[in-house]
Amino acid sequence: MPDNKSVIQIGMIGFGNVGQGVYRLLEKNRSLIESKVGAQMRIKRIMVRDLTKAREVTVPEGMLTTNFDDILNDPEIDIVLELMGGYEPTRSYLLAAMKKEKHIVTANKAVLSMHWDEIIQTARQHKVDIYFEAAVCGGIPVVQAINDGLAANNIMSIYGIVNGTTNFILQKMTEEKKSYKEALQMAQKKGLAEADPTLDINGMDAAHKLAILSSLAFSKRVKVEDIYVEGIDRITVQDIEFAKEEFGMVVKLFAIAEVEGDELEVRVHPTLIPQDHLLAKVDGEYNGVLVTGDFVGTTMYYGLGAGNKPTASAVMSDLIYVGRSVHDNVAGEISNCWFLNDNPQIKRIKKMGDIKSRYFLKFSVLDQAGVLSAISRILGEHRISIASVIQKEQKKGDKVPVVIVTYEAKEEDVQEALKKINGLPFVQEETLLIRMDRGE
Ligand code: HSE
Repeated sequence: MPDNKSVIQIGMIGFGNVGQGVYRLLEKNRSLIESKVGAQMRIKRIMVRDLTKAREVTVPEGMLTTNFDDILNDPEIDIVLELMGGYEPTRSYLLAAMKKEKHIVTANKAVLSMHWDEIIQTARQHKVDIYFEAAVCGGIPVVQAINDGLAANNIMSIYGIVNGTTNFILQKMTEEKKSYKEALQMAQKKGLAEADPTLDINGMDAAHKLAILSSLAFSKRVKVEDIYVEGIDRITVQDIEFAKEEFGMVVKLFAIAEVEGDELEVRVHPTLIPQDHLLAKVDGEYNGVLVTGDFVGTTMYYGLGAGNKPTASAVMSDLIYVGRSVHDNVAGEISNCWFLNDNPQIKRIKKMGDIKSRYFLKFSVLDQAGVLSAISRILGEHRISIASVIQKEQKKGDKVPVVIVTYEAKEEDVQEALKKINGLPFVQEETLLIRMDRGE
């Protein structure tokens, strides 16, 4: 057995918000961290795009480089910490580093969820560790909870608010009546949104996280393309107010994975939940995840899901774990991912058309005779039963919103009915559909 290493050396790729947060955290809590690792933790090189860029954190002369080879070919570097994001060249850097037997810590949900098989297999082949707590829900240790803490359970469902940006936007729209655009600008100023906020808004960031969480939870490879994804860009302040005042419900962007018989439902979309739902009070940049297992019951995880400090906390926990394994000469010996053994109990991913839900449907229609009866006739023909109808009389103009809440119906039936309704001459805008939490 070789001697225990006394210094663990880290090569960092990317030195943005999170990278600088990690650097600061190591400086601040160094003695605590090193006492847990049992060795010194040293950031040796940091790869950046631009050496001259102004940064809040100043690092020693010579630490920054623009050349990945300075990290890859440095035999003293034990761990590559990837915080640059994106798919390429990130994927290539990760694969090359693992082939050089460097362990990986990454916060990159996009590259992991898209290239999972290749990345995990390369880690196994080259016997290196790969840890990614910060890829999902910032500072909340939900990856470890699902992967280790709940490992003995058949997981039945995951319900999560896993994107801080959209959660922050929805809260600003709900409480301060900010428009969607104003709220997005506020989220960007706070540094919550991804470099390209499209991925936050259109639900893809949440889908990347759900692909990782559900793959771990259900021991079944869930690909991003398996997930039905809808963002929050069609929701208006008026819809939010309507749902709150008339139905006592709030809108959240939910990531849902749930076992139904031998099928797994995986979807990301705005969801109406009652104000007393456990996740209703998860506001702003906070994330919240409910995980239900067959023995443990329902467990809940809550905390800051974005921002450099919480994300740095998660990154550092991985670095401590891998650092300790390197120090003890056991790094890469045990895979931390179970689901390469496909779960035989889950035969397939459920088609979105087959899911069942209650629906909040907002029709924008001309205020004239026969409109409601035409809509309800089409809904009835598609086996959709109406639970309540609200039309608010408008003082001026002839376009009115009519909201219909349905009992549980099949998605395929609702989509077919809406296609017909949207084609009716008195319908002024495409109908807005928000699914409602099934618990209601
Ligand atoms: N843009 C992400 C969010 C950051 O808003 O949740 C953390 O993944």
